[in-house]
Amino acid sequence: MKLRTYAGYNEMCRATAEIILNQVKLKPDSLICLTSGDTPAGIYKLLVQYQKEKKVDFSQCYFVGLDEWVGMDKNDAGSCTNFLYESFFTPAKIASSRMMVFDAKAADLDASCRTMDAFINEKGPLAIMLVGIGMNGHLGLNEPGADFNSYAHHSPLAPITIEVGQKYFQQETKLTEGITLGLKHLQEAQIPMLLASGKKKATIVAKALQGEVTNKVPASIFQTLGNGYAMMDEDAASGLVD
Ligand code: PGA
Repeated sequence: MKLRTYAGYNEMCRATAEIILNQVKLKPDSLICLTSGDTPAGIYKLLVQYQKEKKVDFSQCYFVGLDEWVGMDKNDAGSCTNFLYESFFTPAKIASSRMMVFDAKAADLDASCRTMDAFINEKGPLAIMLVGIGMNGHLGLNEPGADFNSYAHHSPLAPITIEVGQKYFQQETKLTEGITLGLKHLQEAQIPMLLASGKKKATIVAKALQGEVTNKVPASIFQTLGNGYAMMDEDAASGLVD
């Protein structure tokens, strides 16, 4: 894993957007996994701007959404899919035939997982897979204890994820289960990218990148990913020791 530290959030976003741009120039029909959350917002803003300026064309790319709260879809304000539409899919004019997001309202969630895995198998390999890091080291909704060998799956949320997840919603929202791409997808991605910003992430980033590699801290898998990038601002990286 290559650790890249930038002075601030904006610099981190610019560098990440550059890597995505270069990938799309190299292979216009790349399959890219997009994460939601506060951290990637600035990256998507830049990508949309770059496309407007004709520096890049996403029209031939394929996209998947990393995860979703079970029971929600793109019409639920605060859902992962809603965020991806608002911040990227809609302003970047991505055709629905070129994207796959989890059907997290389905009665049969296992079938939703199989649909996602099949899309990735058909359009893949994943060229770039963006993931944020949760306060407990989760990646997507791969919570502590997640199997390193899993593809798409659904599982109960950790209490801290339920608590922190409230920040995405206007009113208190019942969150119980998550549906997510798996850690095996990350291992198979050509460029897995971990994004972290802010002082509040410093402790978990240090634990993930310099502590024991264990599924108790899913983000520690990045230590094993030779082709991976950890994209940090200085605040998020401030707990790392040289
Ligand atoms: P955040 O979420 O970007 O809103 O901090 C990260 C995550 O939980 O994956």
